[in-house]
Amino acid sequence: MTSSLFRTKKVEQSISDTEEPEHALKKSLSALDLTVFGVGVIIGTGIFVLTGTVAKSNAGPAVALSFVVAGVVCALAALCYAEFASTVPVAGSAYTFSYASLGELPAWIIGWDLVLEFALGTAVVAVGWSGYVASLLENAGWHLPEYLSSREGAQGFGFDVLAAVLILVLTGILVLGMKLSARVTSVVVAVKVAVVLLVIVAGAFFVKGDNYKPFIPKTEPVTAGGTLKAPLIQLMFGWAPSNFGILGIFTAASVVFFAFIGFDVVATAAEETRNPQRDMPRGILGSLVICTTLYVAVSIVVTGMQKYTRLSVDAPLADAFKAVGHPWYAGVISFGAAIGLTTVCMILLLGQTRVFFAMSRDGLLPRFFSRVHPRFKTPYRPTILLGVIIAIVAGFTSLSELAELVNIGTLFAFVVVAVGVVILRNTRPDLPRSFRTPLVPILPIVSVCASLWLMLNLPAETWLRFAVWMVIGFVVYFLYGRTHSRLAPGAPEQRVDDRP
Ligand code: ALA
Repeated sequence: MTSSLFRTKKVEQSISDTEEPEHALKKSLSALDLTVFGVGVIIGTGIFVLTGTVAKSNAGPAVALSFVVAGVVCALAALCYAEFASTVPVAGSAYTFSYASLGELPAWIIGWDLVLEFALGTAVVAVGWSGYVASLLENAGWHLPEYLSSREGAQGFGFDVLAAVLILVLTGILVLGMKLSARVTSVVVAVKVAVVLLVIVAGAFFVKGDNYKPFIPKTEPVTAGGTLKAPLIQLMFGWAPSNFGILGIFTAASVVFFAFIGFDVVATAAEETRNPQRDMPRGILGSLVICTTLYVAVSIVVTGMQKYTRLSVDAPLADAFKAVGHPWYAGVISFGAAIGLTTVCMILLLGQTRVFFAMSRDGLLPRFFSRVHPRFKTPYRPTILLGVIIAIVAGFTSLSELAELVNIGTLFAFVVVAVGVVILRNTRPDLPRSFRTPLVPILPIVSVCASLWLMLNLPAETWLRFAVWMVIGFVVYFLYGRTHSRLAPGAPEQRVDDRP
């Protein structure tokens, strides 16, 4: 029993699976496509929305330091992801990596965890997008009734129709094929980066030194809210829950971490990359470096334009320009943000369907989902199924707590990947690795500690929700995945029977 839970899928088998014609994806992406892809998904709700919230309630102008902390945690994880992605270049990201190194149960756990990350991440970004679009519509004099707009703070019945429609349209684009979506992505990414640069360059003229005083505001005790809302680390050590100060920088880092989610999605596209051994590490690290630099610059400029206590929570970048008397810039920024969030949503949705696809190809989820479309060569079945479910979730939920749940799931995946690098070095030292993580095992150990540290800075209730999701995952695995796995005894016959 124990050995079957830790049966591993041979790396060679993972790679050869992708060559079965009816389960193969098109190999069309280059390093540049991957970097554009990465930037396309990384810059989003995190910088456009969360910067204001955390500066105001957790870190003040020191939110720039929180971005550095979160960026360092991601860079450490990226160095581990890059080795895995260049060694096991097949769809499924951390899921595939852990199947090849840690075994089936850990792989299932991570796959289940990634489904949570990408599905809820897509929903969070769609709701953020809908807020920006609603505000643009309002500028044009069109007001959506509350029951058809964003759920944040809404009373009674409400369905965020804009968010749901966005997800359904993007689902359609993904079904039609990777190349089309990559092309659309490049244009949109250019618009988004231009808007971020506009904030930095134009905003720099309105920075006032006084707004940075104090740069790290003094610690303030938190009185409102139940204990479960406090970061787990504060409860564990019996500290009084507080905001700001040095601890506030870390609390803020665990939230703005959302702004970096997505570089790991680049790894999920490994199977669709022309030369994954060379291009994958370039794509992952390149997009991460670009984004960290932009985030630090944007947060320094925005907290310099407006006192952190006055920053807006819904559209802090645009509203900072309104505050200094330039509403025209604000309109352009809102427009760019609305366009930019579209790609974030699309790529998270893509990552989500690819993980699901890989899990189903391995038999851990029904094989029905792993047939690619005969003409478009895309995994259209999971794409449509998940697209519809996420559209409903996005329509009915509000974003803040979901974002924290997404963060804990992603950080957990980082831990598994870092551990996996060390294990695979020991169990399969022979495998060719075009990218090798430096300083193994020290760097992966530091990466695990850094990810755990951010996880501990998330609220206790987020930990509880995450635990519930994982328990459901265990039930599904023991009731279905374990016996239907392609690595289970008698699997070859079952594989043929399962084909629709
Ligand atoms: N990193 C992405 C964002 O900030 C998910 O929206």
